[in-house]
Amino acid sequence: MEHQQIIFSNDVSGALETVLGGIDYNKTIILTDINTHQFALPKIIESAVAKQSPCIIIKSGDMNKNIETAAQVWKQLEEHGATRKTVVINIGGGMVTDLGGFAASVFKRGLRFINVPTTLLGAVDAAVGGKTGINFNGLKNEIGVFNEADAVIISTAFFDTLPSTELKSGYAEMVKHGLLSDRQYFADLINYDITGGNRDELLDLLKRSVIIKRDIVAADPHEQGLRRALNLGHTAGHAFESLAMKRMEPVPHGYAVAWGLIVELVLSHIIYKFPTDILHAVVQFVKENYGTFNITCKDYDTLIALMRHDKKSQSGEINCSLLADIGDIKLGTTVTPNDAKTALDIFQDN
Ligand code: GLY
Repeated sequence: MEHQQIIFSNDVSGALETVLGGIDYNKTIILTDINTHQFALPKIIESAVAKQSPCIIIKSGDMNKNIETAAQVWKQLEEHGATRKTVVINIGGGMVTDLGGFAASVFKRGLRFINVPTTLLGAVDAAVGGKTGINFNGLKNEIGVFNEADAVIISTAFFDTLPSTELKSGYAEMVKHGLLSDRQYFADLINYDITGGNRDELLDLLKRSVIIKRDIVAADPHEQGLRRALNLGHTAGHAFESLAMKRMEPVPHGYAVAWGLIVELVLSHIIYKFPTDILHAVVQFVKENYGTFNITCKDYDTLIALMRHDKKSQSGEINCSLLADIGDIKLGTTVTPNDAKTALDIFQDN
């Protein structure tokens, strides 16, 4: 499959014009949520594209990533006279690009769309790779389609106003990409100061991360094989995220992924002898930047049940993408509950 068009530029208006210059379109419609309408849209408000585009504004937050919001978008697309030649420009975090991509993909059997992610997590993960969707019936991303944006425009200009928890949340996915690819990139990532570091350096790290994800997606767009590697850290991470929700103390997605990486690298060590020096470096980095998630042995049964029922497990067994070394990916490894308990013991002790 061809690589998705990704433009890194702090001139978002110029990048939009370049992308639109290569598309036969009759109209552009901007989709934002309430937050990005207030904080991100002003950064392109003077551009010709923004001046000529009506704006659909949706409520923010994952709880609004649902069919009702999608229906509002479809209604407004109709009101604005969208046709198959209309291009939707999604400006926002993962919620906006997931929902906007889905709404565009099925409206009149498919409008083109462009993603402009405004969070680090959105830039390194949600906006790239063609997963679109909404939550349904209590299940995350239950309804959706694979359909890549015509282009993704990534600008660090939006990140200046991001709280440090948001930056760190996205950065955890970058560390995951580093572990999946090469030692030098991984070393550069864990030596960077996430909140105090130079922004040009962050842009360079971000580019490398997005390219890693783009290449994995190009090799396996529909997640039949290699793309499952992107789930590293997520089987345990989703379990921590769900436990935190049950405790009514939600945690940012990337924090749960960071903690999940520790558990899954311990499993990688137990099963595939993943090197201890890298494991220790990750533990140290995660402790310093993400703190820890408090669990006791009493939580193990719940966590293991959650890992078994992760939506990417098809057998009811715990199934993880693990590593034998940096870049040496072991897809679809079945993990015994005993090994999972040992990994949770080690997580708890560190
Ligand atoms: N978020 C993982 C993927 O795009 O496959």
